[in-house]
Amino acid sequence: MNRHKILYIDDDAENLRTFKRLFRKDYEILLAESGEEGLQLLQEHAPISIIITDQRMPEMTGIEFLDQSIRLSPDSIRMILTGFTDVQALIDAINTGRVYRYITKPWDEQELYVTLKRAVDNYELKIRNTQLINDLQRKHEELEQSYLQLQDAQEKLIQAEKMASIGRLASRIAHELRNPIQGIKMGLELLRHDVSDMPECSTFQQTFDTNIHHINAEITSVERIVKDLLEYARDMKFEFSETDLNGVISGVIFNMKERLQEAEITVETHCGEIGAMTADGIRLRQMMLNFVQNSLEAMEFGGTLTIATTLADENLIQLTVQDTGSGMTPEQQQRIFEPFFTTKEKGVGLGMSIVHRIIEAHHGAIDVKSERDHGTLFTILLPRYQDDSEDRAA
Ligand SMILES: Nc1ncnc2c1ncn2[C@@H]1O[C@H](COP(=O)(O)OP(=O)(O)O)[C@@H](O)[C@H]1O
Ligand SMILES: [Mg+2]
Repeated sequence: MNRHKILYIDDDAENLRTFKRLFRKDYEILLAESGEEGLQLLQEHAPISIIITDQRMPEMTGIEFLDQSIRLSPDSIRMILTGFTDVQALIDAINTGRVYRYITKPWDEQELYVTLKRAVDNYELKIRNTQLINDLQRKHEELEQSYLQLQDAQEKLIQAEKMASIGRLASRIAHELRNPIQGIKMGLELLRHDVSDMPECSTFQQTFDTNIHHINAEITSVERIVKDLLEYARDMKFEFSETDLNGVISGVIFNMKERLQEAEITVETHCGEIGAMTADGIRLRQMMLNFVQNSLEAMEFGGTLTIATTLADENLIQLTVQDTGSGMTPEQQQRIFEPFFTTKEKGVGLGMSIVHRIIEAHHGAIDVKSERDHGTLFTILLPRYQDDSEDRAA
């Protein structure tokens, strides 16, 4: 270990010299003739193991100096040299813990030697204690961190298990529904055929046709739900190839142009120069369709849909989708990627979980910011290149 540093302040130059002569063999001695000079030395040499100061000095008393030294070298052992004057100030300083002890003047060489030795031991103990406390604190924080991670992992596991069983159930129900739906469709077709062959029914023909039309529309919507369910429950396959995300976006907007116009929604696209990326173009299209569909449904009374792409850095594409629609409560935002979470009367609640899967399969990330009655902003980050372009199931 390095030699301990002792700082000694005294306005009597003779004392300084004697002190240095006595102790320079055992310690590194720093000397100052005034409080100001002492503070300067502290600033340059802290941490200092022991500070000793004369009490009676012209500009700054010893106690005043020691009080100021705490800020610069908090762990130092502080001692004061004094005659038997200023007793009250001294007692105060010792009682409030700012001063370790006092040494009477003129000092006794032998006694001072022992006192310094004890003070140094004390200092080492203090430093070791501080280290131990810091170690303990760090260990405690690490433990707390591990505990939180464990808790998080457990929750994810439970959630994943829950989702898997919901998925299996959904898949079975969807399978079971497929045949009856086909049956209903065929039955309707036969009925329509039979009725058109019966002249006595001709007066009902028109109402009959209208009803059949309605029933067919409902069946189509049930078929779509079943298709979504099956798609969700199945492992999704991904095929990666060079893909133009800006092209995918304009394709989706083009396809939905009429519905967006009808809903009085203005679309703004800001396509940055992002180049080509490695991705599954069909899945990215599916993702964009879901975003646009949701925004459309959120902007019942019209609004603006803004879609932008840009390079977040050389290998990272940032896509933002923003609408001025209904927005979401914080609770809804938290649950948005849960399968079957929906706030819509006719919603299935699978769109966003499929989007999430698609982004995960591309090793990307999605963030949502939303404010009730103001709108929603999705920020998606997608790597431009995939480490392995092999097909994958998610
Ligand atoms: N752009 C959006 N604005 C407001 N709410 C949204 C938006 N996108 C998604 N949501 C909320 O997330 C829910 C889940 O969306 P989604 O998974 O697509 O299912 P669905 O559209 O069938 O309800 C929606 O019901 C809605 O509450
Ligand atoms: Mg949706």
